[in-house]
Amino acid sequence: MELKNTVALVTGANRGLGLAFATALLEAGVKKVYAASRNPREIAMPGLHAIQLDVTNEEEILAAARECGDVNLLINNAGIAQPSLFAAADALTAIRAQFETNFFGMLAMSRAFAPVLKANDGGTLVNMLSVLSWINISAMNGYSASKAAAWSLTNGLRNELREQGTKVIGVHAAFIDTDMTKGIAMPKTSPQEVARQVLEAIASGREEVFADEITRAVKSGLSLEHAPYLSEAGR
Ligand SMILES: NC(=O)c1ccc[n+]([C@@H]2O[C@H](COP(=O)([O-])OP(=O)(O)OC[C@H]3O[C@@H](n4cnc5c(N)ncnc54)[C@H](OP(=O)(O)O)[C@@H]3O)[C@@H](O)[C@H]2O)c1
Repeated sequence: MELKNTVALVTGANRGLGLAFATALLEAGVKKVYAASRNPREIAMPGLHAIQLDVTNEEEILAAARECGDVNLLINNAGIAQPSLFAAADALTAIRAQFETNFFGMLAMSRAFAPVLKANDGGTLVNMLSVLSWINISAMNGYSASKAAAWSLTNGLRNELREQGTKVIGVHAAFIDTDMTKGIAMPKTSPQEVARQVLEAIASGREEVFADEITRAVKSGLSLEHAPYLSEAGR
């Protein structure tokens, strides 16, 4: 897909990786970037078209799909991460919240924008996944489950939308240097570097991005007898 002919919509574009995607797209000279946010007043960068969008709000999603009928690149970036052990007494609220945003939000956006992408020559759909789509850290089990479901959603959408010419890209990353990993002392990839790799995949038509060494090592270990998902991540 040629970036110069791109009209993009990025969810969660007010900060973190979403803002890096929006900035990188502008710098690449795309036609237009809709920067979607729960708080569009936070979108200050000149050149971005700020729109109101909570990915858990069906009405706002349908309104965005009506108002942004020229979109040929949707980046499902918005996500939340909350501590959530499966067996903890109070876990369900956090687990459900993460599924609402990370899975059902991505699903609702993809469903609403599939016809828009189709009307604009197929276009490209990018889903922000994680290395935790494949492995678990116990304290983040609810997040992992939501990102595993989002991985399955991405693979299913790729097959369903192939006929209408939509390219579906799944992006997996370990630690990215944003608010989400504040206080975690691990090597982190900059959001600008992740955005750079994703734009390269969009331009070249690659269907998956593995953004860092940890992600590439986990991915290549999935077929081993002692696959990384059989033990706690990092042990
Ligand atoms: N950081 C990492 O290490 C890492 C690694 C792998 C994958 N990811 C994924 O990368 C994506 C971006 O994460 P990040 O690191 O940039 O996190 P972040 O700094 O916490 O930013 C999250 C963004 O998502 C938005 N958001 C959350 N819930 C939303 C909703 N219901 N509707 C609309 N927007 C919503 C937030 O908006 P508000 O400002 O309104 O809260 C914010 O813009 C997420 O999908 C995350 O799971 C992150």
